Amino acid sequence: MKATAKAPANIAFIKYWGRKNEILRLPANDSISMNLSEVFTITTVEFSEGYEKDEVEHIGKEMDKKEEKRIIDHLDRIRNLAKIKTFAKVLTKNNFPTGTGIASSASGFAALTVAGVEASGLKLNERQLSILARQGSGSACRSVPDGFVEWKSGSSSNSSYAHTLFPPGWLNIVDILAIVEKKTKKISSSEGHTLTGSSPFYKARISGMKDKLKKIKQALLNKDFKTFGEISEAEAVNMHTVMMTSCPAIYYWTPETMRIILSVAEWREEGLPIYFTIDAGPNVHLITLFEDIDKTIRRLKKIEGIKGIIINKPAEGTKTINTHLF
Ligand code: PMV
Repeated sequence: MKATAKAPANIAFIKYWGRKNEILRLPANDSISMNLSEVFTITTVEFSEGYEKDEVEHIGKEMDKKEEKRIIDHLDRIRNLAKIKTFAKVLTKNNFPTGTGIASSASGFAALTVAGVEASGLKLNERQLSILARQGSGSACRSVPDGFVEWKSGSSSNSSYAHTLFPPGWLNIVDILAIVEKKTKKISSSEGHTLTGSSPFYKARISGMKDKLKKIKQALLNKDFKTFGEISEAEAVNMHTVMMTSCPAIYYWTPETMRIILSVAEWREEGLPIYFTIDAGPNVHLITLFEDIDKTIRRLKKIEGIKGIIINKPAEGTKTINTHLF
């Protein structure tokens, strides 16, 4: 009863920030994302009578009690579905810094879900896996299906899941992730979601959502990169406006973040088709065309304060793999 899964992080172009149902973890709006090829989590889960309690370990990271409990709660969900009582050992590793807004909870809970379900002997389809992953961390449901993904907010737990809109090869774009901070953020996204209602701009954000979702889906369908990029960039700023104006205020951006934002506007004026998006952290995702990778990297390297660059292509979703971590 051992299985291992590899799950990508994902970057949302239309973001999930705030929930309409806290208990069921139903997001306030639908969201749209792309899986990232070079930032991922690998997790091995083994259920065995040999364990006297759940053992959870994250390679290269100290885990606090709260994080451990969140993982054990998820194992309980899997055990309930599989009707087993056996304890498990979980070993997990990320190939990127955790807790810096590179969606570590998304890849983490997607990998835990797929490995845990497989190890438990349960047979679930992609939709059921996405629903289960969502209960661990909302955005994790989007790391389950392949490529460009839509998460339908739904009106019940069973209707809130993600599905593929387009396969990974649909658009010739890359996500160049500029890392400016590797430290764990002070306010987690889990906490941030509960603060949205305190921002005076939150209502305006939600009321514009339907139209924005329709437009970005049309731009994706038409492979209209300019419209797609413009909507994505404005959406990221919209979400961060809500963050900065909630109570307490959340400032994820650093001076380096702002430096990149301003540079992107300049580069665009120089003719480079490039847009940014930012999750719950200071690191910046630069979205550009495959053929403009070199030009972007050359420019990016001139900016002060960049600690790392990761070039991501659109990727598959979460898959089981045969190499176990233990
Ligand atoms: O799934 P969570 O609770 O980590 O929330 C993710 C929130 C954002 O990354 C900021 C937006 C998103 O849709 O990925």
